[in-house]
Amino acid sequence: MRVYLETFGCQMNELDSELVRGQLQSLGHEFVPHPDDAEVVLFNTCSVREHAEQKVYSRLGLAGVRKKQGEQLIVGVIGCMAERDGVDLFKRYPQVDLMCGPGELDRLPLLIDNAARAEAADRSERVALAGNKSRRSATLEAAEDNLEMLDLSRAFEPVANDARSRSAYVRITRGCNKFCTYCVVPHTRGAEVHRPPSHVVDECKRLVDAGVIEITLLGQTINHYRYAHGMALTVDGNEAPQVGPGLAAFRKPVAPGVRTTTFADLLHRIHEEVPALQRLRFVTSYPRDFGNDILEVMRDSPRICQYLHAPAQSGSDRMLKAMNRGYTVSEYLDFVDRVTTTLPDCTIGGDIIVGFCGETDEDFEQTCELVQRVPFKNNFIFKYSPRPGTVAFDRLTDDVPDEVKRARNNTLLALQSRVSARVHEQWVGRTVPVFLEDLRERSAPASTANGRVALSVAGMSTSETNSTFRQIIGRSPGDLIVAMPAPENAVELLGTVRSARIVGSRPLLLDGLLA
Ligand code: SAH
Ligand code: SF4
Ligand code: F3S
Repeated sequence: MRVYLETFGCQMNELDSELVRGQLQSLGHEFVPHPDDAEVVLFNTCSVREHAEQKVYSRLGLAGVRKKQGEQLIVGVIGCMAERDGVDLFKRYPQVDLMCGPGELDRLPLLIDNAARAEAADRSERVALAGNKSRRSATLEAAEDNLEMLDLSRAFEPVANDARSRSAYVRITRGCNKFCTYCVVPHTRGAEVHRPPSHVVDECKRLVDAGVIEITLLGQTINHYRYAHGMALTVDGNEAPQVGPGLAAFRKPVAPGVRTTTFADLLHRIHEEVPALQRLRFVTSYPRDFGNDILEVMRDSPRICQYLHAPAQSGSDRMLKAMNRGYTVSEYLDFVDRVTTTLPDCTIGGDIIVGFCGETDEDFEQTCELVQRVPFKNNFIFKYSPRPGTVAFDRLTDDVPDEVKRARNNTLLALQSRVSARVHEQWVGRTVPVFLEDLRERSAPASTANGRVALSVAGMSTSETNSTFRQIIGRSPGDLIVAMPAPENAVELLGTVRSARIVGSRPLLLDGLLA
């Protein structure tokens, strides 16, 4: 069948979409770029904020119109909304034929098959699979085993001159055990489960054999990766995914006699065993339990990118406590100190929530202080959005008015922009490797009398006769965006790593020249 798949949400979802695509293609389905040409329309959804869900509701509205006009169309909602909203969404959106939570994606082809058969027979048959409720709790291992097959059977086909196909995600941990009070992820993705190191390393090797040069490891709190060997085996004696040990495990030494692979060990293994991998990155770092062992592996492994996405969420201890983040501001600052001492070039990015339940002007002021104090290259700033099913939704009051949330959001954005500008400035004059990923047309900033354009932006020393010029966009190991004048053969350079001399800086990006 012709399938259209649209993805919302985080990198986990992007990876899930890629796996779903591979799986459906191997069964003969064909993907089309526009929903109007599709017989099956799938939305891989996100529940993290209400806004993310609203986008999907409007897509469902459009699909509903098509169905009302008599088109034969299968509409599927997969991912976190299918898990969170479940049957409720079915009730409100009769146009939805199937739903499939992130823990059930291995069964998606079956659901599509059933829906197609029901439609052909003019029967109405609607199925919702949500892992936390159906099989996951009862038979975790079987479910994880099937999900694991989805990652293991991944097909990968890099496309020439396409940067995206040279860069891949590899999951090391599914789910999350942290239960921050505002967050829906532990509810939609289920318990934290760690994949066996051998599976992760093999997957990296296979991707690199297929032409991938950059891998980003994924986990919600990636430094909590920990795999105790010999404990979880499949029936044929291979290592199986393993439920995470919980926070307490990080406060005491590893049990004697148990061979354990920590996150630092895993990074080291991938770096050593996959030498053709040019860039190894990872998200998301949890500011607690981030040991010096990880920083030391990063320092000693030249192909591991010195970049940490380590969300602080707030600069107020009171808020951090209400959020159940499990660290204080001073612990966060200690983490940052250790990072900058061991890795002076490491960039740090994060996420911040403004207007969480009970946040006062003073709490917010403390967040501003944190942002001024830490050399954050960027922060994604979110207005608190109450999510049904979370502890904050049930037990705390969403008492910060929306206009206050908006004002705090704007204040913090402006502040972050100044901090970002400072961080970016420090790179001027240096030469950095850049992963070239995109081309874009820019209109020229200033024109001179003879019709030629003298590009005043630092680094754009070339003169051009057109009113637009082409830039090639790259990313430094520290995830800084570098914009450079595109050479003639720019298309061939996409998806490769080159050197760039940094000649100027702006709040959000660096201007460079390809060396
Ligand atoms: N595991 C990551 C975060 C994953 S969700 C971590 O712990 O850092 C991505 C970001 O969405 C979070 O860092 C948080 O800033 C934001 N977020 C999560 N739930 C939210 C909510 N209910 N309202 C607003 N922002 C939220
Ligand atoms: Fe959500 Fe907290 Fe888990 Fe991150 S660590 S996914 S914010 S519960
Ligand atoms: Fe959204 Fe689910 Fe990711 S809620 S942020 S898609 S884990």
